[in-house]
Amino acid sequence: MADEERPGAEQYLPGERDLESLRAAAPGCRGCELYRDATQVVFSAGRAGTPLMLVGEQPGDREDVEGAPFVGPAGRILDQALADAGIDRGDVYVTNAVKHFRFRQQGKRRIHEKPAVGNIVACHPWLEAELAAVRPRVVVCLGATAGRSVLGRPVRIGQERGHVQEGSDGRGVLITTHPSALLRLRDDPGWDAAYDAFVSDLSAAARAAESASTPG
Ligand code: URA
Ligand code: SF4
Repeated sequence: MADEERPGAEQYLPGERDLESLRAAAPGCRGCELYRDATQVVFSAGRAGTPLMLVGEQPGDREDVEGAPFVGPAGRILDQALADAGIDRGDVYVTNAVKHFRFRQQGKRRIHEKPAVGNIVACHPWLEAELAAVRPRVVVCLGATAGRSVLGRPVRIGQERGHVQEGSDGRGVLITTHPSALLRLRDDPGWDAAYDAFVSDLSAAARAAESASTPG
């Protein structure tokens, strides 16, 4: 993919950067090539001022069709884990590092493809603007793509997961696994431990969000 196809999202952001203005402007983004084949932009779910923000990778097949984040199979696991962690999905802000679905067509099927670093970088202005508008106390990065976008550097889940670290602007950042990675362990002997670790990470983030003071 040539660089000129990824001018980045910045020029497509609105002047007013409250959440409603951001949401309204996102469908017009041409910051990278992904808008071309996707059905629609999937922006986020949630309100400004929410203490806990969850950041995923990118919309999947279902999300692309429905226009909402985490409504497919990964979303079901996430919902279950949030419930088991005592967190109400209505009380979290949910978004993705990349706002359009990246896939390759195989016959009638659309196969998920990881976003390239260039897509993550191109889409970062949206996430940055959401962070500024929502002002969460703690940001949970679901997987390496989210971690990379939020922390601005490569992230290894195994080495960094589960504790709240300090991100920019003094907000807490917790790295954990992606629910789709969990899903792949469904019939594996490691399932119980992996699921419990995920729930425990979400609980730790929620506790930190309750106790932390609002940044800046
Ligand atoms: N996976 C993600 O990372 N985000 C979604 O919204 C759905 C699946
Ligand atoms: Fe814009 Fe992000 Fe979509 Fe690329 S993925 S077109 S940067 S919203």
